[in-house]
Amino acid sequence: MTELLARTVSVAKQGNILVATVDNPPVNALSHSVRSGLIAAVKALESDAEAHAMVIVCDGRTFIAGADIHEFKKPMVAPLLGEVIDTLDAATKPIVAAIHGTALGGGLEVALACSYRIALEGSKVGLPEVKLGILPGSGGTVRLPRLAGVEQALAMISEGGQISARDAQEKGIVDEVVSGDLKEAAIAFTGKVIADGARLRRTSDLPVPAFDAAVLEMSRAALAKKYKGFKAPLVAVDLIKMVTETPVAEAIALEYKTCKELLVSPQSKALRHIFAAEREALKIDGVDAGVKPRDVKKVAIVGPGTMGRGIASCFLNIGIPVTLIGLTDEGLASAVRAIGKIYEGSVKRGSLSSEEMERRMALLTPTTSYDGIADVDLVIEAVTEDMAVKKDVFAKLDAVLRNDAIVATNTSFLDIEELAGSSRNPARVAGMHFFNPANVMKLLENVRAASTAADVLATTTALGKRLGKVPVMVGRSEGFVANRMLSKRTREAQFLLEDGATPLQVDRVLTAFGFPIGPFALADLAGMDIMAAARAARVARMSLREQQCNIVDRLVAAGRLGQKSGAGYYVYDENRKASHDPAVDELLEAHRKERGFTARTISDEEILERCLFAMVNEAAKILDEGAAARPSDIDVIWTNGFGFPTYLGGPMFYADQVGLPKVKAALDKYAGLVGDQYFKPAALIERLVAEGKGFYG
Ligand code: 3HC
Repeated sequence: MTELLARTVSVAKQGNILVATVDNPPVNALSHSVRSGLIAAVKALESDAEAHAMVIVCDGRTFIAGADIHEFKKPMVAPLLGEVIDTLDAATKPIVAAIHGTALGGGLEVALACSYRIALEGSKVGLPEVKLGILPGSGGTVRLPRLAGVEQALAMISEGGQISARDAQEKGIVDEVVSGDLKEAAIAFTGKVIADGARLRRTSDLPVPAFDAAVLEMSRAALAKKYKGFKAPLVAVDLIKMVTETPVAEAIALEYKTCKELLVSPQSKALRHIFAAEREALKIDGVDAGVKPRDVKKVAIVGPGTMGRGIASCFLNIGIPVTLIGLTDEGLASAVRAIGKIYEGSVKRGSLSSEEMERRMALLTPTTSYDGIADVDLVIEAVTEDMAVKKDVFAKLDAVLRNDAIVATNTSFLDIEELAGSSRNPARVAGMHFFNPANVMKLLENVRAASTAADVLATTTALGKRLGKVPVMVGRSEGFVANRMLSKRTREAQFLLEDGATPLQVDRVLTAFGFPIGPFALADLAGMDIMAAARAARVARMSLREQQCNIVDRLVAAGRLGQKSGAGYYVYDENRKASHDPAVDELLEAHRKERGFTARTISDEEILERCLFAMVNEAAKILDEGAAARPSDIDVIWTNGFGFPTYLGGPMFYADQVGLPKVKAALDKYAGLVGDQYFKPAALIERLVAEGKGFYG
């Protein structure tokens, strides 16, 4: 008979085993009801003389995925998670955690406080708190090192990664990996535990295994480099050090205190904002959550250039066959070689087996003909950024595709409405804007036209997630959201050079802010010829000052093409290390003279404000036009697309933290200094400031 102990936790008896089942969709997070239910389950176990052990198992897609993040914003209501863990730890009969899906954060802490853990093949465990700017707060840092060793625990806690059940077994975190019916396997396992004398195994009773203290300091240095700007990974090192030196009860109290302090830190607020924003971005504005995505089993990609190759490999990675259409056999052969090279790199690094590489390459069919794609579910065109060329491709596709096949364009700035309008079936046309290199970059800017069918939008979103990308839906707008905002930052960075700043100064300010690379080092990496071509494509729509701000063209004329030619904004040594080049000072000075600018000393504050607030101002216009549905979508785009530090929450979240009145005052100041046409505060900013609100209310 099943007894409901709390809204989300029930128990049932199977012989002499009590089975506690957690059912708290979507991810069985440790909400108040689950916490109360688990404590009640242990009490039921203790008070039932016939029950000799208990299994904790979860319904739905996963074992407990952690504390309930939604409760973080409110004062916690007892019983707290620590009490649940203490109750499990103090149980006088063995408890077995039966893991499927993911046991994460507080979920793994629950499992670690049980006597035994069994896991379904394919499941994963981890302590991902650091990704939310916090650290485990209910014994994770105390128990994990005792089972897995200090080094392994530190790696998992400081980076927040997940490991497979098999790895977890190898590391001593999981006792057995099973396949088939988890509940049955857990009951069988628990039966054996009872037959062996129902031995309790408290993780907290174990000593911390010996370890090399130098490892902690080495990790600290490595983490400081890898997670520059992030606080929690470094605090993790201190916490683990403390745990290795402190008795259990005291260590648990100190761990809880640390977690609580981090929880109210600005970094944690920003990181939790991004976590929620990425999930919110999956909800398409105006499309009912019940709209089913179409099935995508086969795709074609038109255009075997840099983008087409990267996009093709994204689909091959998830086992979807790709027909790659090109104009010439040579172009296709070069694309196939390039895709093969991507995988060869992974095989060399050991992250891919050669068998898997072969499997993926076998899914790729290069062809110069459109004839064989009548049965594909989706086509992505990634041909040259020319409206006429793209329309021609659309016409060819219309002639061969099934009516329900989706046609997506990878355009980065052409008018989506015009493209959709050129199709025989505008409802099937959408944008899927991948970023270069497409096989690496997380951001996928999905674009909607007014005519795009709701289930097509649902498909591009679901597909983005399947591809391991972070998809965000945007609307019609030149350069969509990401590049339109970037172009404003690029423009300001160029104007700052005219006004007297150096490339080094601008890059230093923006990397100190938290961007992984400054705009000028990035331009050198991309290649000045590429930058000049992008500029030429837009020059007719630029303001006069922008048109005349032709520093990029001057660099190209001087043969300074960036890293590939050994010099661009910087000069590069044989190891591609950049240094300041007085020749660039001269080039800039000549430009200023010609253009009538006198170099002045520019403060770091001015550089930062002009670069960031120009973007924020543009984003406000984008929001007002409806090209982005919500400010959080813009934050997701910038943190995933251009390395805006996640611990600052994205440009819109950051602007709110600065305070919109301050942002508006700065915009007003720069409107006076640089020009109204560049810095006049957007109408949305004016409105929000007048209403005493921020982008987030
Ligand atoms: N609390 C509350 N809701 C959560 C949640 C959590 N810990 N984790 C996920 N959700 C919600 C999501 O917001 C989303 O809600 P929505 O459908 O309304 O948008 C829904 O669950 C599904 O989430 P995903 O879209 O992410 O589903 P996936 O299947 O892709 O991934 C997952 C599932 C791997 C569990 C992923 O959601 C995840 O990584 N969750 C976060 C896990 C985590 O960070 N745990 C640690 C929490 S902190 C903690 O435990 C502190 C402790 O030490 C004291």
